[in-house]
Amino acid sequence: MRDSLTGILNEDPALEERVGGGRNPFDRAKREAGKDWPASALSMIGAKRMLQLQRAAEFVIERGVPGDFIETGVWRGGACILMRAVLAARGVTDRRVWVADSFRGLPPPDAARYPKDAGNMLCVFDQLAVSADEVRAGFARFGLLDDQVRFLEGWFRDTLPSAPIDRLAVLRLDGDLYESTMDALVALYDKVSPGGIVIVDDYGILESCRAAVTDFRRERGVTETIYRIDDSGVHWQRSAG
Ligand SMILES: C[S@@+](CC[C@H](N)C(=O)[O-])C[C@H]1O[C@@H](n2cnc3c(N)ncnc32)[C@H](O)[C@@H]1O
Repeated sequence: MRDSLTGILNEDPALEERVGGGRNPFDRAKREAGKDWPASALSMIGAKRMLQLQRAAEFVIERGVPGDFIETGVWRGGACILMRAVLAARGVTDRRVWVADSFRGLPPPDAARYPKDAGNMLCVFDQLAVSADEVRAGFARFGLLDDQVRFLEGWFRDTLPSAPIDRLAVLRLDGDLYESTMDALVALYDKVSPGGIVIVDDYGILESCRAAVTDFRRERGVTETIYRIDDSGVHWQRSAG
């Protein structure tokens, strides 16, 4: 399942086109580390972060940490599909997977409010705009589209503060920008149960994302140890305090 979602199983080439035509070929090392965007597979997070996500979902189920799972920034939906698959494999019917995205790519940078996002032009990448219907189709291909999967469509600043979520056991942030990371933390961090897992996909490679996490943790006095997953992803466990 994980290898299918990352494109390792069928050696899915890179989405990036080569100068002179054609796609960059499949590169196992890059795909393990989530360092390229797959041409057709449903997630770009790579094998290591996908395995960590599985373990985080299994951990909170095994320990009885209450709450739903969410990813903010889903692209084609592969990481959310993995979380729904864990619930199915464990026979869990009382937790939901929240799928939060604009489903039209990143917002343009608001450099006045978020100077760290100045010059970040990921918003111009059409490849990052994947519709909710395409994401639903991905879930359906795995037989995992049902009412345990809930979509939050729109900019995080509009959808997350009023999202009808009571508690979270896994909060996975993958919105790249300072704004997107901060909006998700402000709206959702207090809903993470003690013992819940917070995962930040872009901490290691995107300064904007790391700065949002650093500012939020400082402002809120969050001191739990940050553990590295790979060059990019990190996680921490929310303490009981
Ligand atoms: C790097 S991709 C996510 C990759 C995905 N987690 C995976 O498994 O492949 C970033 C996603 O975040 C979304 N996004 C970023 N900032 C957003 C915001 N402020 N509001 C809504 N969606 C946002 C984009 O639309 C895009 O789908």
